[in-house]
Amino acid sequence: MITNTELEFKGNLYPTQVVEYRKDSDKYYFTSQNGVILEITILRNSALRFRYATDRVFEPDFSYAISPNHSRGYDEIQEDETDMAYLIKTSKICVFVDKASLRVRIEDLNGNVINEDELGFHWEENYEFGGNTVKMSKVAQAGESFYGMGDKATHTNLKGKRTHNWVTDQYAYSKDQDPLYKAVPFYVGLHNDIAYGVFFDNTFCTHFDFSHERRNITSFWADGGEMNYYFFYGPEMRRVVRAYTDLTGTPELPPLWALGFHQSKWSYYPESRVKKLASKFRKLQIPCDAIYLDIDYMDGFRCFTWDKKHFPDPKRMVEELEDDGFKTVIMIDPGIKVDRDYWVYKEALEKDYFCKRADGPIMQGKVWPGPCSFPDFTNPEVREWWAELYKDLLKDSGVHAVWNDMNEPAVMEVPSKTAPLDTRHHYDGHPCSHRKAHNIYGMQMVRATYEGVKKYVFPKRPFVITRAAYSGTQRFSSTWTGDNVATWEHLWIANVQVQRLCLSGMSFSGSDIGGFAEQPNGELFARWVQMGIFHPFCRVHSSGDHGDQEPWSFDEEVTDIVRKFIELRYQLLPYLYTMFWKYVKEGVPMLKSLVYYDQMDHQTHFRTDEFIFGEQILVCPIQEPNAKGRRMYVPRGKWHNYWTGEVVDGGMEKWVAADIDKIPIFIKSGAIIPKYPVQQYVGEKELKELTLNVYYLEGTELSTVYEDGQDGYDYKKGEYSLRNFKLTGKSKELIIQQFKDGTFITPYSQLRINFIGLPFKIRKIQVDNEAVTQKDVQLNGNNTIVIDKNFSSLVIK
Ligand code: GLC
Repeated sequence: MITNTELEFKGNLYPTQVVEYRKDSDKYYFTSQNGVILEITILRNSALRFRYATDRVFEPDFSYAISPNHSRGYDEIQEDETDMAYLIKTSKICVFVDKASLRVRIEDLNGNVINEDELGFHWEENYEFGGNTVKMSKVAQAGESFYGMGDKATHTNLKGKRTHNWVTDQYAYSKDQDPLYKAVPFYVGLHNDIAYGVFFDNTFCTHFDFSHERRNITSFWADGGEMNYYFFYGPEMRRVVRAYTDLTGTPELPPLWALGFHQSKWSYYPESRVKKLASKFRKLQIPCDAIYLDIDYMDGFRCFTWDKKHFPDPKRMVEELEDDGFKTVIMIDPGIKVDRDYWVYKEALEKDYFCKRADGPIMQGKVWPGPCSFPDFTNPEVREWWAELYKDLLKDSGVHAVWNDMNEPAVMEVPSKTAPLDTRHHYDGHPCSHRKAHNIYGMQMVRATYEGVKKYVFPKRPFVITRAAYSGTQRFSSTWTGDNVATWEHLWIANVQVQRLCLSGMSFSGSDIGGFAEQPNGELFARWVQMGIFHPFCRVHSSGDHGDQEPWSFDEEVTDIVRKFIELRYQLLPYLYTMFWKYVKEGVPMLKSLVYYDQMDHQTHFRTDEFIFGEQILVCPIQEPNAKGRRMYVPRGKWHNYWTGEVVDGGMEKWVAADIDKIPIFIKSGAIIPKYPVQQYVGEKELKELTLNVYYLEGTELSTVYEDGQDGYDYKKGEYSLRNFKLTGKSKELIIQQFKDGTFITPYSQLRINFIGLPFKIRKIQVDNEAVTQKDVQLNGNNTIVIDKNFSSLVIK
């Protein structure tokens, strides 16, 4: 046994013998002889918080990450004590705190170790900045895998990797480059079929080592602040992810148009070009809901202004675009041009809203407009001011939605690429330097933007998107993966990044489809669109200086493929919206990596490419040129090949054909997939019916369709329509029961039901226990019937 004294090497300090133990409602305190206090808070039966103070005093408790609405509450707690340890037992887990070392071990109720400290908490005093480097090391269990951590451009399984969280503008990043734009210090560990999660809520630069330095050890540490982490027990990964997402929050529902296809470029201007772009979409009948204006719409890159030469009458333009079904999304960056004749700069200066250096001067850094100063978004008053700036911008122009970029903040021409570390921040009344505020700066910017946009597009719903993010940013904004590159490798990266973001609480994410830097060829573009339509956020964006990247920029074959897949996204909108609703309501990630889908199948632990879109659609992108198909892993269960109808048994790798106009898509047997007609934009057509594709299964399966007014807030008053379906299939019979909830009256009155893969010919049909004729339900030999939307039970034989 190693003693703590032996461990005081390299300046590391360790807690010693526990000398005091005390309980205060839901908190337990353990104090060591050398003044370390461990505070354990019980949040839920399976969610605990661990905090350590090194000198008898905790820092004020404050976090930007934690949602004010997170769930609390647990059953009875039992406490116990042995010679060696204190025990705290919830109805799910048991925590042991070692009396000699303050080390923690967590077991399930069967005595299986879920997680245990190796050296546990230790720290190093930081003489340069004050405070401590706080560290935690834990035993990595045999065969343990690791997932999560935001936007890391690396294998979905992080075993063997070391990674850092420091939000960074990484133009044209490469595979394994780290850190990138986001800081999400949350991981899921999985071993012995048990999943648990750790969220290290510390905004300083944080570091995680997943069995990289030492094979049996996982550690995490931060350059400052407190050792403050949350622990979530599964044993299912879905419980872990949902508990983390509950703690850090989910967004409200976006307007449905935000889930349509979006087209962007740096930059579409002047107005005539924007209009041409819009009419080309309509002329070629390629659905599109939003067009983005990058920085060039501004006057000299001054935020909240318009370049009146290129956009003489923004309001008229935005209105005309809207008449044609397009929403306009505009960019706002944090850097405010240093210009004493520019009202935003002047106002911020007068109100003392800019970040300052340690010695007093206002911080300056170069961005697009040249020298800029940066509002301190960690000051609530500044956030309010910023939110109000949107009043005129949105009201005067009719713009609906805002894109926040460069909010790491990105600063050009300096090696650090960001604000100097001595820059001061308000941090909501806990003044600090940029070392602590850096990772949440962008989050607080987009939070202010969200508040402003929400207020000024009311009664519509806001849509905002951010590049930089810290845990919890999902409450305010969608996100994209930053400046990627038009290469096949980046298609792979986008795939793992979006899966990883979904697992990390940030489902509303996507990549720059086709690649931001450089130019894809038609094949790469088509393959990327084929994947991108399955990402929660679906936008083509490119730097524009390498050629065009519109759906028609390649050849006709590519245009046709792109149209076909965007049409598929529009058809699947009710399915996509339902999965968004589940994400909002229960924190269910919109895309699920296979390990999330079936952790008991160990084949899934190292898969990267395949993912489940929502609950019942399996997708596997094609990630290399000249492919006629690919090998992929089909998870356990029965699956219908979307293109061929062939039913396959999963649990094995398979070759799946997918020529350039297809990618492997499988529908889970038993699923009921809702579809809308193809529309050129959301709301183009009055919905006359809802199509339900029913995939036969011998067995039972549940499916859900959520709908509402597609915008506005009436859904919060119960005006939604929820259809829960239970399918029960037998060899010669299929029963569908519908359970409805909500007061929203859908515009359509009937359901068009397509039976796919039925092993028998339909001879008898019963709706709500009454026999109906084939004519009544318009059955004309092709396994499609049309019935009233409010049926409760449908039996076909
Ligand atoms: C950054 C953004 C990119 C944008 C460009 C110009 O590189 O990531 O999306 O087009 O700035 O605003």
